[in-house]
Amino acid sequence: MAILPIVTYDDPVLTRKAETIKENSEELQQLIRDMFETMYNAEGVGLAAPQVGHSIRLFVMDADPMTEDDDQQGKLGPMTLINPEITWQSETITEFEEGCLSIPDVRENVKRPDKITLSYLDRDFNPKKLTVDQTAARVIQHELDHLDGVLFIDRLGSFRKRLLKTKLKQVAEGNIEAGYPLRPPQTRVS
Ligand code: NI
Repeated sequence: MAILPIVTYDDPVLTRKAETIKENSEELQQLIRDMFETMYNAEGVGLAAPQVGHSIRLFVMDADPMTEDDDQQGKLGPMTLINPEITWQSETITEFEEGCLSIPDVRENVKRPDKITLSYLDRDFNPKKLTVDQTAARVIQHELDHLDGVLFIDRLGSFRKRLLKTKLKQVAEGNIEAGYPLRPPQTRVS
């Protein structure tokens, strides 16, 4: 396994719509293992493939550290989601503070539906359907946005975003210490 450097704001791979995954492969399974190691190393609860430079529809998550200890039902454990699609979302919207491993040091309140149903393939390519709320719904929507080239800061009002301008410039210039390996845009190889 390997810890992969995480791509930061405003690398073009983070604004691209990622490709549907057509088949399983040893390469894909290796990437999934590396993504879990990378996510845990960065103490993140979710990591999407574009964040490690792969523009494919895959993310890993483990929201349990963020879930209340007494909420056993809400605990899902480590999950791999391939080609995920939201098939239903609640009309009820909640606001919750989000951060992103690709935008270190930035945390902002984001409004999203509080409950969703989604379909996806698990890491063995078995079709799955899942209805989740609270933390898991939050993490899944944030990660799914990454597959559509959307960052949580894109969901902020223009005033909030303007206040973040200096911080975002620092991140884009690689002028930031995250405590885990980063790949700022200017060191891109491709
Ligand atoms: Ni993120």
